[in-house]
Amino acid sequence: MKTELVTTQDGSHTLFAPDLKEHFHSINGAVGESMHVFIGAGFNELSKKEIRILEVGLGTGLNAFLAFQQAKNREILVHYTALELYPLDLHKVEKLNYTDMLGFDEYFTFIHKCGWEREVKIHDQFYLTKHKVDLLEYYTDESFDLIFFDAFAPEVQPELWTLDVFIKLANVMSEGSILTTYSAKGEVRRAMESAGLNVERLQGPPGKREMLRAIKS
Ligand SMILES: C[S@@+](CC[C@H](N)C(=O)[O-])C[C@H]1O[C@@H](n2cnc3c(N)ncnc32)[C@H](O)[C@@H]1O
Repeated sequence: MKTELVTTQDGSHTLFAPDLKEHFHSINGAVGESMHVFIGAGFNELSKKEIRILEVGLGTGLNAFLAFQQAKNREILVHYTALELYPLDLHKVEKLNYTDMLGFDEYFTFIHKCGWEREVKIHDQFYLTKHKVDLLEYYTDESFDLIFFDAFAPEVQPELWTLDVFIKLANVMSEGSILTTYSAKGEVRRAMESAGLNVERLQGPPGKREMLRAIKS
């Protein structure tokens, strides 16, 4: 995928995909958005000491990196499964400034350099499995406590924000599992609700009024 490096409002980088006319994160702050949507409204809401996370769209690895830091700091064991159909070239990843802001250089690099299709121990607290797969073709018997739904926007990838996809995701969630996403679109909320999830609108990250969180009951 063709991408260009962009600096967002909080100083952290994101990538812009000109063919899709889409940024990977909010231009109001990439780290701020990921912290708010996926860590604040997701990770921090779980009280378990062992958490299984599924991410739709590994991309720059920012969400995985932030989850790793939470796991390490709070001594939570995380099994992180990330789906990505278009893995980024390492030379693009190396230009991202997340470790300038957040430290842990070697772990960010390891998240990107480690192998695919098998579980890799990144740290005692963080195990990563990367799958190069289309979400639409992904099937698993595993279940997850938390889903980071971070596909490109529904306007750009409508096929990933459908009732069928949310039914599939609801099927890999157990009671109390959480799915968070930056989108607050009515259609998305209705698709999640039709899939049997309880959906809340929460305050969005900087620059965005609302976001969605879905919980399986
Ligand atoms: C909005 S970006 C977010 C990426 C990432 N979470 C980050 O923090 O950089 C969406 C990501 O989903 C990936 N993607 C697009 N279509 C996909 C699909 N059908 N299955 C899996 N991943 C997909 C893209 O390549 C891109 O990396």
